[in-house]
Amino acid sequence: MGAADLDAMAGLLGDPRVMEFYPAPKTRDEAAAWIAWNQRNYAEHGYGLWIIETHGGAFVGDCGLTWQDVDGVLRLEVGYHVGTEFLRRGLATEAAGACRDLARDELGAAELVAIIDPANTASRRVAEKIGLRELGTTGWRTVLGTTFG
Ligand SMILES: CC(C)(COP(=O)(O)OP(=O)(O)OC[C@H]1O[C@@H](n2cnc3c(N)ncnc32)[C@H](O)[C@@H]1OP(=O)(O)O)[C@@H](O)C(=O)NCCC(=O)NCCS
Repeated sequence: MGAADLDAMAGLLGDPRVMEFYPAPKTRDEAAAWIAWNQRNYAEHGYGLWIIETHGGAFVGDCGLTWQDVDGVLRLEVGYHVGTEFLRRGLATEAAGACRDLARDELGAAELVAIIDPANTASRRVAEKIGLRELGTTGWRTVLGTTFG
């Protein structure tokens, strides 16, 4: 994800349907800040959220790994957003599964979580399909996760 993705990312994160479970859709400036945050994560950790695209190069959304503060503890989270024209084709599951494999096989992560609004059925289903199970709650949100032995 880089500066050249601003139009696509602003379109994705500015779409109220994609951002239904967030406080509000993101402005273009907020989308630029999202890209900058991911670039800082690439520099600091070697990973972050990446662009999902089709084999033909069409922009689909983003997916990747970020550290999230969960009740004062940093935990590795898989996150994903898919544009409305690409929904329900298995793309979030494919991308999130690749991130799970990377966390487990390449990064040596101890666990992977996803922090999800209980009403966000689609997101929960993606998490379950890659092997995450309900662990508890943080605030009003559900924490799903798996440990890697
Ligand atoms: C969550 C999201 C990424 C799923 O993307 P997707 O590419 O459509 O997901 P997949 O095609 O891989 O589907 C995975 C599973 O979820 C199910 N699913 C997808 N959308 C669903 C919906 N709206 N309601 C119920 N189930 C849904 C699919 O049927 C599939 O399950 P199945 O194989 O048992 O049928 C997408 O809906 C999205 O971007 N939502 C908005 C952003 C968001 O909330 N992100 C998560 C923040 S925690």
